[in-house]
Amino acid sequence: MRRFRDIRPQPGRLVKSLSVCYTLGMGSMLEIENLAVSIDGKRILNDVSLSIEEGEITALFGPNGSGKTTLLKTIMGFPTYKVESGRILFKGADITAIPMDERSRKGIGIAFQTPPVVRGVKLRDMLRITIGKRGAVSEEKIGEYAETLNLAAFLPRDINQGFSGGEMKRSELLQLLAQNPDFILLDEPDSGVDLENIHLVGNSINQLLGKGRVREKRLRSALIITHAGYILDYVNPDRACILLEGSIRCIGNPRDILREIREKGYEECVRCLSLTC
Ligand SMILES: Nc1ncnc2c1ncn2[C@@H]1O[C@H](COP(=O)(O)OP(=O)(O)O)[C@@H](O)[C@H]1O
Ligand SMILES: [Mg+2]
Repeated sequence: MRRFRDIRPQPGRLVKSLSVCYTLGMGSMLEIENLAVSIDGKRILNDVSLSIEEGEITALFGPNGSGKTTLLKTIMGFPTYKVESGRILFKGADITAIPMDERSRKGIGIAFQTPPVVRGVKLRDMLRITIGKRGAVSEEKIGEYAETLNLAAFLPRDINQGFSGGEMKRSELLQLLAQNPDFILLDEPDSGVDLENIHLVGNSINQLLGKGRVREKRLRSALIITHAGYILDYVNPDRACILLEGSIRCIGNPRDILREIREKGYEECVRCLSLTC
């Protein structure tokens, strides 16, 4: 039987151990080195190491509670998530201790799994503020994106107030398009989105990432969490990782890994990893 940890990464990559992924080739956008993270004294992530290159898209799979959201929020710099050891480098600079707003200005953007409701702040005003921070996107262009995402009617409304799950996800993407980040963290962009709107979400993510370009010319790098894998019908990641019990395992081809998970579940993954290769 084929085992999860036997899945080879794409040519040109080298997995050196289950917890450390070395990539070869272009410049590194994000380097996570031996990261351990706790929340309220409870250890959530252990010895996570991951390298994402310029223009590279990495998918992150893992069962509920394995620490996927924790990893993304730690990269973004949420203060609840305490880095116990290890470090995070972005474009070569150590960002482990800098606040979230500075990380955002450096070019990291996040779309939340469960976006917060922001009462008293209109979506339109938030987009204007965001455009002003990093520039490069015109207000007119954002208006076009809002039309494409079926969100034009939501611009005068408070952010996420009374939005459905799918509307929130689309609103998150619109805000990312306005922010114009170099590296995007997407936390389950496909969860809670109905079939009618999943193509809007998928196409907007491709718009963000620069689909159709060769990887060297892609607009941005990304780390995308997907539980069900629906988004892979639209987005074509370069590779995927599995996060299990707070550590990264099994780095390889996204479709191979997704098929294995769908066929055998994460239980098989745990079992396989307890065997000696
Ligand atoms: N704010 C928090 N306070 C306490 N525990 C938390 C908090 N956020 C997450 N956790 C715990 O951390 C673990 C990982 O959660 P999370 O990163 O959300 O997992 P995933 O996104 O993979 O489902 C879970 O056991 C969860 O209960
Ligand atoms: Mg999560």
